[in-house]
Amino acid sequence: MVATDIDIESMHEHVVVKRGARSGLPVVVAVHSTALGQAIGGCRIAYYPHWHDGFTDALRLSAAMSDKCALAGLPNGGGKTVVALPPGRTPDAAGRRALLHDVGDVIAGLAGAYATGPDVGTGPDDMLTIAERTPHAFCRPVEAGGSGDSSEHTAVGVLAALHALCTERFGSADLSARSFAVLGLGRVGGHVLRMLAGAGATLVAGDIDETRRGLADAAGAAWVSPEDCLTAGVDVLVPAALGGLLTARSVPKLRCAAIAGPANNQLDAPATAELLDQRGVLWAPDVVVSAGGIIHATAVELHHETSARAAARVRGIADTLAGILRDARAGGSTPADAARSQARQRRRDGHRSPTSGQAPSSDGR
Ligand code: PHE
Repeated sequence: MVATDIDIESMHEHVVVKRGARSGLPVVVAVHSTALGQAIGGCRIAYYPHWHDGFTDALRLSAAMSDKCALAGLPNGGGKTVVALPPGRTPDAAGRRALLHDVGDVIAGLAGAYATGPDVGTGPDDMLTIAERTPHAFCRPVEAGGSGDSSEHTAVGVLAALHALCTERFGSADLSARSFAVLGLGRVGGHVLRMLAGAGATLVAGDIDETRRGLADAAGAAWVSPEDCLTAGVDVLVPAALGGLLTARSVPKLRCAAIAGPANNQLDAPATAELLDQRGVLWAPDVVVSAGGIIHATAVELHHETSARAAARVRGIADTLAGILRDARAGGSTPADAARSQARQRRRDGHRSPTSGQAPSSDGR
């Protein structure tokens, strides 16, 4: 019997859970969709109370990657790898190599349906180790033939998004006239803070890691606790740490006018988009804002474009976001809804079109 009554969009194509033969750690690779082409998405190595939590995270993150790729105009679908570390257990160098080889073997078993990249807890050197087991790893170091660290490109995309967001919310793209609270000063957040300082913006910053205070000082940003950063009275909040920070509990406390940042899965649940709307906070969907890294890596590694061409595509995030915010305003919907329906439409069109999966669109997205 053929099932016709299930929501195909919400269902993953293929999910593998494997206890790593070498590491003994749970490796989850979730392939959400290959409707537009090979699924791509980073490899997250993080602590979870139970590996089931890592599994759930992989499902959510990979589905978001499908929207991210579709909205970025890439001929790719979404996937994600999660290695769930038990709390308090940090692998040593040999253990880390073993677990990355386990990840590589699982990806190799998918025969090209999915390629990985860096994410929370991994970087270019880890991609090189994974690449010892499978060719499907983006962002290996430049010396090794990859496109290298993607965090700066992600930050460039965030800045482009902030221009579009400020134009829509405040009627001007001039960042020097605005105040920002950057929450999370990891690799991407640190670059965003520096770039905003360069643009003359007024800044507040916070991170759970006190040692990052120097980054705030260097950028002339006021250092505050993560809680105060989230609720700072600024024009724009920039979430650049882990996801899930926008919830029914946190939204009533927000004092910003708009939100755009690179953290993945910022909303704890889809309904939170309406809460933001009701509070008058304009939220730029994270799947659009955070696409710079993946746009750059695929442009350089898959399509052999120059860095300049790839950078132009990353800046195209401004047009993509402007279009979504415009659609939302015109249709009386939330930006989250507008983004979701555009992504679904692209997947359907791409699925039907015999020319899909060739080259990225030439309009800079
Ligand atoms: N962490 C990246 C993201 O969420 C994943 C990625 C980056 C994958 C670059 C491939 C290349 O978009």
